[in-house]
Amino acid sequence: MRAKHPIHTTLSTEAMSVLERYEQELGAKNIVLERALLGMDKLRFKEKVDTQTISKIIKRVKTGIQGFDELVEGGIPEGFIVVATGTPGTGKTTFSMQFLLEGMKNNQKCIFFSFEEKADQVIKQSIRYGWDIGQYMEKGYLEVFGFTMLSTEEIIEIIDTFKPKRIVFDSLNIFSDITDIRKSSEFRNIVKVIKEKKITCLAITEKKHGIEVKEYDDFDFMADGIIYFDKKLTHELDMQKAYFIEVQKMRITKINEIPHQFIFSDKGIEIRTLPSLASAFEKNMHSKSIGKSQQT
Ligand SMILES: Nc1ncnc2c1ncn2[C@@H]1O[C@H](COP(=O)(O)OP(=O)(O)OP(=O)(O)O)[C@@H](O)[C@H]1O
Ligand SMILES: [Mg+2]
Repeated sequence: MRAKHPIHTTLSTEAMSVLERYEQELGAKNIVLERALLGMDKLRFKEKVDTQTISKIIKRVKTGIQGFDELVEGGIPEGFIVVATGTPGTGKTTFSMQFLLEGMKNNQKCIFFSFEEKADQVIKQSIRYGWDIGQYMEKGYLEVFGFTMLSTEEIIEIIDTFKPKRIVFDSLNIFSDITDIRKSSEFRNIVKVIKEKKITCLAITEKKHGIEVKEYDDFDFMADGIIYFDKKLTHELDMQKAYFIEVQKMRITKINEIPHQFIFSDKGIEIRTLPSLASAFEKNMHSKSIGKSQQT
């Protein structure tokens, strides 16, 4: 079976087992991981493979959300499918469009598949923040498919033709039978195409519960990362709720797992890192690394 994928033949046994475990979990071949492992195996002969070497191999995609990339070692690994999930009206769509905007600013083609809102509503929402996405649409950097009832084949054809570097699906809950989605060959075909083409993707899903309830669906297990959005009162006496974002998972990344408060500024979402929380996190990381170096 492996003979079909000659690229694997140069992988070491350990690298092969990592790749196979990943493929089993995802249900599709992961070209990005495969390349990274291949790069590591080549380097293995020249120098000791350490975490810094791995970090250099992983290409990270900047989100454009002020304060976010620091929470995930500088950005989302290229080719990842990350779930942006949470309760209603908490900024999932805004965050995702802002992520595309960053791509467009860097001459990357982007697609927004909206299964919920009409295209013009998505565009209007962006104009409120002064994001001139109209000019990017005119220049051919952005396609917005609103209120979409596209088949899997059509979605794949659009991706093949347009060749985007970033995609947003808003939201995946259109697939009614979530429990079956992992087995769905249609869905897996889309995932396969996204992975093969190293497209970085945000897939929005909905949750009926807040950050503190740790209940996950199949999307969360399939995804390479989970970004959770919520709003809640920060204090019993507060009159207004505050918005929070929490990175719950990002494969091959040391994440800052603390929920961070964010605001909707006139430019979009901005993360507000509270100094006390940031230093507590850094202290924790520091003591962990000291603990590790003492063990060795
Ligand atoms: N310019 C703005 N200033 C302040 N708050 C805003 C602004 N624009 C949007 N919001 C807040 O953000 C919320 C919606 O943001 P967004 O549509 O990104 O959230 P969502 O999580 O995608 O929502 P939904 O669950 O409806 O899809 C609104 O309910 C509103 O409270
Ligand atoms: Mg939305």
